[in-house]
Amino acid sequence: MARDLTVLIMAAGHGTRMRSSLAKVLHPVCGRPMVLWVAAAAEEAGANRVVCITRPGEGVAECLDGRLEVAEQTDGEGTGSAVLAARSMIDGAGTVAVLSGDHPLMTADVIRDMVETHDRESAAATVLTTEDLDPAGYGRVIRAPDGSIERIVETKNPDNLPADVLAIREINVGTYAFDADELLSALDEVKTEASGERYLTTVVEILRERGRKLVAHRAADALAAAGVNDRDELMEIEAEARRRLIREHALAGVSFTSPETTTSDAGVEIGEDTTIGPGVSLQGQTKIGRGSRIGPHSTITDASIGDEVTLSHAVLTECTVHDSATIGPFAYLRPGTEIGEGAKVGTYVEIKNSRIGAGAKVPHLSYIGDADVGEGANLGASSITANYDGRRKHRTKIGKGVKTGIHTSLVAPVDVGDDAYTGAGSVITEDVPDGALGISRPEQKNVEGYAERVKDQEPRE
Ligand code: UD1
Ligand code: CA
Repeated sequence: MARDLTVLIMAAGHGTRMRSSLAKVLHPVCGRPMVLWVAAAAEEAGANRVVCITRPGEGVAECLDGRLEVAEQTDGEGTGSAVLAARSMIDGAGTVAVLSGDHPLMTADVIRDMVETHDRESAAATVLTTEDLDPAGYGRVIRAPDGSIERIVETKNPDNLPADVLAIREINVGTYAFDADELLSALDEVKTEASGERYLTTVVEILRERGRKLVAHRAADALAAAGVNDRDELMEIEAEARRRLIREHALAGVSFTSPETTTSDAGVEIGEDTTIGPGVSLQGQTKIGRGSRIGPHSTITDASIGDEVTLSHAVLTECTVHDSATIGPFAYLRPGTEIGEGAKVGTYVEIKNSRIGAGAKVPHLSYIGDADVGEGANLGASSITANYDGRRKHRTKIGKGVKTGIHTSLVAPVDVGDDAYTGAGSVITEDVPDGALGISRPEQKNVEGYAERVKDQEPRE
């Protein structure tokens, strides 16, 4: 929708009910800060200008990272003061939609519908409302006998409010469309409340007194209207956001054997015919290809996983796994790790900043750090790279087709040539040439007749 629409996102509140040192709108919902969900809805709704109202020093502007314009609220408290902070940006702007940064499930459709109603009705202000949420704590919409909006009454402190106001179910969502000039001139008249705040909602009664047209627009999607003021509401909203994300993946061809125990951050990509098992957590910018089997019980963060990969009980962070590889159970892949096509990383294996070649195997009980392992190599159980000398990290190079015996210690920097072997229990400190056997261990000595000699000794207590 190409149109002349400016959107303001109010994101400069104190969020005291969150009891947090992090600004409320930066609390993540499925890994993405709340305010970015609202920003995405505004952009998708076709706004040609989106301005976020922030408070200096709270980190919100930094989180936006240049994606939106920013207006700083430095004077006054409350939603009215918030909008005034963007005065110069909306002066003469025509239609302005005002959104709350703490409504992360807000959708482009709801914004578009509201703005369309506003323009069609040529209203001075259009207020988004719903009767489909628990109204506690929200501003209530007071209608005149003819059905028009009279004013909005805040209910954050319900004690001294009349029962008939508290009985009203229709709430102010905190999402509006305004004619910019009507909005600014009404805001100039908004008085400061006893709490020290200037309420944006007071604009409604001011415009009514001026005889301007006010419209209430019902939100088609009640959850889009739900706000977050405390962490209990945050949990509820996040559960819904998670269900929506998983439903989207499912409709795009992904199977979830236990969707209620799966979490997926916004922005995760999963290919068709991949199955996600119970207890899987997909985080950050994770990408998974087609036909893979992921889980059970794995946590994957900012990782790129190919097609037909099998992975269980694993923790992966900032790494790449190519097609048809097998990971786990009980493997830990740390940043900078790349697992080649068809490679196998088995049980109790930790790999950091290393490349494991195509078809190579690290099947049991290994630590591989700062290493390059060639194609088709097979590291015996408990092969370990000693990559750290107490001061610096060094690399280990293991050639193609190498077979290390069990309990090989590779003391870096060291280079094992292509097709070489190492003997079981060896501590390899010198390079091993191509095709050679590197072995370093004391020779075995057998004591003949030992059992016979100790047979008649008294057992010691
Ligand atoms: C507000 C509405 C209420 C509505 C509810 C919907 C007012 C006075 N009340 O109440 O009618 O039902 O939203 O969720 O507007 N903000 C600023 N600067 C400030 C204060 C707030 O930018 O000085 C931002 C907040 O970051 C938040 C939004 O405005 O994103 C709403 O503020 P909040 O304090 O949560 O208002 P509510 O009490 O929820
Ligand atoms: Ca709120």
